[in-house]
Amino acid sequence: MIVREATLDDTKDIVSVHLANPDRPFDKPIESLSIAERYRYGGSLMSIESGAIHLNNLLAWGSVPLVVEEKGKVIAEAEFYIGRDVPPLGTTLDISLLYVHSDFQRQGAGTLLMREMISRAEREKCNYMTVSGGLGAPGFYSRFGFSHLLDLKAVDCSVPRRTDTCTCETYTPADFEKLPRGTLWIGRFLSPCQKWQEIVDAIKKRDAILKERVEWPRPVGRYSKSDGFLSFLVPEWRNISKADVYCWSEELTPKVVSELLSHAHLEGYGRVCLLCHPEVVKLVSDICRSAPRRSWQILVRKLTGSCQKQL
Ligand SMILES: CC(C)(COP(=O)(O)OP(=O)(O)OC[C@H]1O[C@@H](n2cnc3c(N)ncnc32)[C@H](O)[C@@H]1OP(=O)(O)O)[C@@H](O)C(=O)NCCC(=O)NCCS
Repeated sequence: MIVREATLDDTKDIVSVHLANPDRPFDKPIESLSIAERYRYGGSLMSIESGAIHLNNLLAWGSVPLVVEEKGKVIAEAEFYIGRDVPPLGTTLDISLLYVHSDFQRQGAGTLLMREMISRAEREKCNYMTVSGGLGAPGFYSRFGFSHLLDLKAVDCSVPRRTDTCTCETYTPADFEKLPRGTLWIGRFLSPCQKWQEIVDAIKKRDAILKERVEWPRPVGRYSKSDGFLSFLVPEWRNISKADVYCWSEELTPKVVSELLSHAHLEGYGRVCLLCHPEVVKLVSDICRSAPRRSWQILVRKLTGSCQKQL
């Protein structure tokens, strides 16, 4: 078995790895599902068409998907992002995805990918490595020194009718070339830099291949120079009257939270979900008048002997 960086030629094999690990069993033969149905079912890597766009975007952004090859066939894939993460993390390598084909699990492929990512994190002088989410395999990560760091909480609320206006500007495609500054206080499903790329990537995929889902509203971004924040509203797949909110900002103030709700109101959303960092959960739940619920956890591994690198 060897670990190497993925290329676009690996798309078909990478998609096979992910199709062999569905989140829930397919209720119809996979061949009978359209590209949009597959995408809705399990994301980009459920078809070669959307998988190619996803991998193309990753490679174009300078990200490095890794694969394990066995006898000329790709049997496992990992994706990771290096960037400045939420407090108390500094420069962090976040593992966003790690899957081994079901026919090849427990044969060492996952370990090879973990070792490669640890050595890259050390080389890049990261302070930490993280992995987050539903965490299907916490026992696997604890073998590599990962432990619980923090829980993110979800605040789900109906959008109040508001009359206030704001000085925010709408994001244009040219703005997408610049990485956002500040902490991703709201919406850290993945590392801050990856989340940014994923929103841009989702817009490209939607425009390129998901035309049949024209009713799916376009994610809309706004930024405010005066208040120093950037936000995005991304409609949920299963309920397009509800949006997931993302907000990058140096500091999350009551005014910024109010602006997020105004934005959702102006865009016609009835409900929003704000996934909050523990430091801002009380502020957000007070303004939204909704109790938070535990939602997402981040596991962390500290890297020894590393120094802070400014990104
Ligand atoms: C979890 C996963 C990445 C592990 O990769 P793998 O190649 O199967 O694991 P390895 O063969 O390298 O196993 C290394 C060790 O971890 C253990 N291990 C493997 N999967 C484990 C799990 N789910 N929980 C706890 N320990 C696990 C193995 O038993 C092995 O220990 P041993 O050497 O004492 O036998 C892989 O099984 C997988 O893709 N699973 C489905 C998707 C998933 O859960 N991904 C991770 C969360 S996103």
